[in-house]
Amino acid sequence: MINNNPIGLFDSGIGGTSIWKEIHELLPDENTIYLADSKNAPYGQKSKEEIVALSFKNTEFLLQQNCKIIVVACNTATTNAIKELRATYSVPFIGIEPAIKPAATHSKTQTIGILATQGTLNSELFHQTAERFQNTKIVEQIGHGLVQLIENGEINSVEMTNLLNSYLQPMIEANIDYLVLGCSHYPYLIPQIKKILPENIKIIDSGEAVARQTKNILKEKIGFNNQLEKSTQVFYTNSNPKVLTSILNNKYPVIYKDF
Ligand code: DGL
Repeated sequence: MINNNPIGLFDSGIGGTSIWKEIHELLPDENTIYLADSKNAPYGQKSKEEIVALSFKNTEFLLQQNCKIIVVACNTATTNAIKELRATYSVPFIGIEPAIKPAATHSKTQTIGILATQGTLNSELFHQTAERFQNTKIVEQIGHGLVQLIENGEINSVEMTNLLNSYLQPMIEANIDYLVLGCSHYPYLIPQIKKILPENIKIIDSGEAVARQTKNILKEKIGFNNQLEKSTQVFYTNSNPKVLTSILNNKYPVIYKDF
């Protein structure tokens, strides 16, 4: 099947690029459009209604650019709005949810930790997933302040280290053997997190699974790009493009647009 339209992705900010990287690695010939709604970040403390409204706005923007599939590269938007998005639009949506299942399935201590936003941890969808793993203790922690620091380009700051320490120490004490990163911004914190966690605690996120799922849906329902020229990767932000440019290692131009 052939479809040369781009894959669209959106996030509350720059974090969803961790998902974009996985998708681009698996599907390098696909054109992509990434939308960073950094002006409205963080989504994590907003109400469900606000998150749904912002997710619709981002979707409209991507549909205007003829995206053939939309990847909601944000756990908070997925857990709060994907049902409403799917009920409204006919385009397929790929969502990202905390990887509770692999962590709970493989945990030997039957105790796992999850670091995510308030919006994700309070969502109905997250509770439904967590309830399926009654035999596993899930230590939940809201990552207050982490997204703002990442959006400000302060990944390696002392404040970041202090926050991570305060969030992870209680999990270590609770004897977790898996830490689930339930926010697409957090994979950028893995080097710092590794400095804090003992080696036996594994860190997992959902990026690779989302990329595989995107590929499957393209294969089964939508079609792949078959244009011979090099694929294009377009990035939009409605805030200062500096941090997004640098998280992409200055390899791609970033377009500022007030959407
Ligand atoms: N990247 C989002 C997520 O995966 C962001 C959260 C936020 O904006 O608070 O949940």
